[in-house]
Amino acid sequence: MSTTSQCRICDGTVHEFIDFGRQPLSDAFVAPGAEKGEFFFRLATGICDSCTMVQLMEEVPRDLMFHEAYPYLSSGSAVMRTHFHELAKHLLATELTGEDPFIVELGCNDGIMLKAVADAGVRQLGVEPSGSVADLAAAKGIRVRKDFFEEATAADIRENDGPADVIYAANTLCHIPYMDSILKGVTKLLGPNGVFVFEDPYLGDIVERTSFDQIYDEHFFLFTARSVQEMARRNGLELVDVERIPVHGGEVRYTLALAGARKPSEAVAELLAWEAERKLAEYATLERFATDVKKIKEDLIALLTKLRAEGKRVVGYGATAKSATVTNFCGITPDLVEFISDTTPAKQGKLSPGQHIPVREYGEFAGNHPDYALLFAWNHADEIMNVEQAFRDAGGQWILYVPNVHVS
Ligand code: SAM
Ligand code: TMP
Ligand code: ZN
Repeated sequence: MSTTSQCRICDGTVHEFIDFGRQPLSDAFVAPGAEKGEFFFRLATGICDSCTMVQLMEEVPRDLMFHEAYPYLSSGSAVMRTHFHELAKHLLATELTGEDPFIVELGCNDGIMLKAVADAGVRQLGVEPSGSVADLAAAKGIRVRKDFFEEATAADIRENDGPADVIYAANTLCHIPYMDSILKGVTKLLGPNGVFVFEDPYLGDIVERTSFDQIYDEHFFLFTARSVQEMARRNGLELVDVERIPVHGGEVRYTLALAGARKPSEAVAELLAWEAERKLAEYATLERFATDVKKIKEDLIALLTKLRAEGKRVVGYGATAKSATVTNFCGITPDLVEFISDTTPAKQGKLSPGQHIPVREYGEFAGNHPDYALLFAWNHADEIMNVEQAFRDAGGQWILYVPNVHVS
């Protein structure tokens, strides 16, 4: 008998298909000595048998995740800097061409995308609750409102700034369980021909690649074209375009408009057909995914245990939020992985959530290459492997666990 919960989109029944057990907050890096106060919750995911939305079974209060000390910096990857710059250029050339256009970004983080918009002289507003990163965006000259976006925030923005031509969110919408409030806010804030564009990890890629580490506290929803279409329809909006994009291990960029305002593109029907063919909304498909995940866990622990027995040095590369699921679900302790190298100042000198693997600055990796690097930031693999030629030249090897455990 499966565990159930109530769907955050349609009130239907969500059936659990994978349980990672007790997990910490993925971005709550721990100061040495403060290990005792960690917050844990049960990380499990299910699918709604009515609207097909895949979602967490338990919700973590938002203030525990997004606050003054939120450590993630969007600008930490060169590929992502280019990605957001290109997107800004595209929006400036297509949707932001009218008289005095206006764009609102939810979760603007350190301002990586809106900087290009501000430089073009276009009216912009970032809505960002995490003070640490909101301040970095403001320092770039971007208008930032330090707040959670929701219905009341949207109404207030509309009153002060008028309607938005574009509302944009990257790797943010899937973080927000209170979707009814968000979408009511979007319909209030959008101008009659405005668009709501968002990009998030795609369930199609997650299932195809068994990228189970895309499941953690902040990733409340795992979207598909079908579940997004249904979610839009229930809120007076319409899915009018989709585009598969290669960043972060496979995402989809969705475009919503007010119902009837724009004609849906052929890409929408094509992706819906692809999902139906792959049986993405079927429980049996997700049960198979859960079986594949268990195999990765066994293989990864077996490999790390063997390398430890052989006296090899293994270091983690990238203290990603995703790595919290991997280390805590698989039981990767500091005796298996010596430390994790990461370029983010707020993570360095801390311990990884739950397993307490030390996080150290990049120089500790580059200055003393280990035998193996466990690539927790596998979504940035091309970028990182290009930079780390010296590691490979010195005989270093990469350990990857997506789509299966392998050494390369
Ligand atoms: N957009 C950036 C990117 O793609 O790199 C940042 C993504 S980060 C993973 C998620 C961001 O969403 C965080 O900066 C967080 O503070 C923000 N966030 C969470 N809830 C939000 C809400 N209700 N409204 C606006 N931003 C929110
Ligand atoms: P992300 O997968 O959520 O974008 O997180 C990537 C993490 O990896 C982030 O903490 C920054 C870190 N990182 C490095 O340490 N070196 C790198 O070259 C890159 C691209 C990321
Ligand atoms: Zn539902």
